[in-house]
Amino acid sequence: MPPSGPRSPRADPPRPLLADPEQVATLKARALELPSWDLDPRQQMELELLLGGAAAPLRGYLGREAHAAVLAGMRLPEGPFCPWPLTLDVDEATAAALRPGGLLGLRDLEGVLLAVLRVEEIWEADPEDEARALYGVRAAQAPRLLPWRVAGAVEGVELPGHHAFAALWHSPAELRALFAKRGWDRVVALHLPGPVHAAQHRLGMELVRELGANLLLHPVVDEREDYYWLARALRAALPRFPEPSTALSLLGLPRRPATVREVLWQALLRQNLGCSHMAWESGVREGAGPDAYGLEADEVAEALARAAEGLRIALVPVPAPAYLEEAGGFVPWREVPATARPRRLDEPELMARLREGREVPAWFSFPEVMAELRQRFPPRSRQGFTLFFTGLSGAGKSTVAKAVMAKLLELGGRPVTLLDGDVVRKHLSSELGFSREHRNLNIRRIGFVASQITKNGGVAICAPIAPYAAVRQEVREMISPYGGFIEIHVATPLEVCERRDRKGLYAKARAGLIREFTGISDPYEPPEDPELRLDTSELSVEEAAQRVFLYLEREGYIA
Ligand code: ADX
Repeated sequence: MPPSGPRSPRADPPRPLLADPEQVATLKARALELPSWDLDPRQQMELELLLGGAAAPLRGYLGREAHAAVLAGMRLPEGPFCPWPLTLDVDEATAAALRPGGLLGLRDLEGVLLAVLRVEEIWEADPEDEARALYGVRAAQAPRLLPWRVAGAVEGVELPGHHAFAALWHSPAELRALFAKRGWDRVVALHLPGPVHAAQHRLGMELVRELGANLLLHPVVDEREDYYWLARALRAALPRFPEPSTALSLLGLPRRPATVREVLWQALLRQNLGCSHMAWESGVREGAGPDAYGLEADEVAEALARAAEGLRIALVPVPAPAYLEEAGGFVPWREVPATARPRRLDEPELMARLREGREVPAWFSFPEVMAELRQRFPPRSRQGFTLFFTGLSGAGKSTVAKAVMAKLLELGGRPVTLLDGDVVRKHLSSELGFSREHRNLNIRRIGFVASQITKNGGVAICAPIAPYAAVRQEVREMISPYGGFIEIHVATPLEVCERRDRKGLYAKARAGLIREFTGISDPYEPPEDPELRLDTSELSVEEAAQRVFLYLEREGYIA
């Protein structure tokens, strides 16, 4: 595994951009009258890199000219290597209120002042140009930034804090101090897009041996996502490594499409954090498939060439060791005979096994790591789900929903919450009427509550009319990432609902006493492809509820 680039005497520590205590007091006092911008979580992660010095040579946000230079040649106009064009994007009103020479307070979502920006330039980026240069795609397919940018140097008031995993977040100064205290002069940062399983463990151990460097397990996490399980899984694997030569630290970065530029940017950050090498799992030797960053072989070659020009950290893409049954364990890739058939278990297969509660072979991982994964990705029988009944008033939604609820409560295991249309309208949506806007707002609220219940492993049973397909789809998308979403069309014909008219509302609607009545004077868009369709003019309540139950059993929600 020949490291690329110079064998680095480590780069000098970057200077943090934090003001001294006296200045902080002045800045805070002045900030009371300043215009301010509330950073979103992505911007807060980026500001943290700037303030701690991880983003050096950047000392602030780029203006138009420097932005163009970085896009074109990965260098600042003054010359230093800088792969990522860091800018501060703001809304039009904020941009319009600023003047060069002024100050802008940068606050977190709670309003705490984190830094002050000395405004040098307010400019508008061309989203198409930017998307093409950064990702080679149209702006619509690229991560979204606002077009208005504010450029200038930042002066830090305080570093943003982290509530979770406080011991795993490090500023460059903290990480360098940790290295110095442990006497580490060579440190290889191992980029980890996922947990440390047995192969990554072997890879880490090999790196230590071959590079004669200490090992920093260095996952990139996006704080806008649920990274907690990953951090827990990594923390669980840490004791598997020799304590004197291994550390674990989180690198907070917005998740972006894989590009050479992104790899180089992460390399620069790691250089500033005090690492001498950066390693990552490359595609296996046949040249097949992308690497841990999602790059192809030619892009990796480009990254190595570029890095050699501008970085003082060595880049080490390296294939993970392969598990050979005949060898009885892991073998470095270069020692794998051409005829051997290494065992593999890729990510989709792993996820499928977790989802279905199947076994994962012992060679693949460690029990303590798998325990974290199994907790985060439980099989369907332990996931939450939402039963979303939709249909006309009087179709039997509530009645069937109540029967299903009773059966689920009898079964036990998960908390069950009923969000019935009429009940929701008494509480959660008491101020809403029956216009399209109000109905959609009502359904979004129900969807939000159901998504929270599903996320926490419960069962939400919703039974509104929900006449519009688009918002039902929205709700499906809100809930699906967290668990099951089962749309049940209670397709009882209008004539039957009207004949039943248990609340006397159809009669009133026909008489014109109620306007916008679903099915009479307001639309109902039947679901085209629901998970289940029930017609209560043909099925008894018991039979309908039983259909739902059989579906849940068939799909694995009930074990
Ligand atoms: S939804 O369209 O927003 O999904 P929701 O299920 O909450 O409707 O409320 C429907 C219930 O409100 C009906 O079962 C009925 O009792 C009552 N209701 C009162 N006015 C109307 C109306 N114009 N259209 C439909 N339902 C109405």
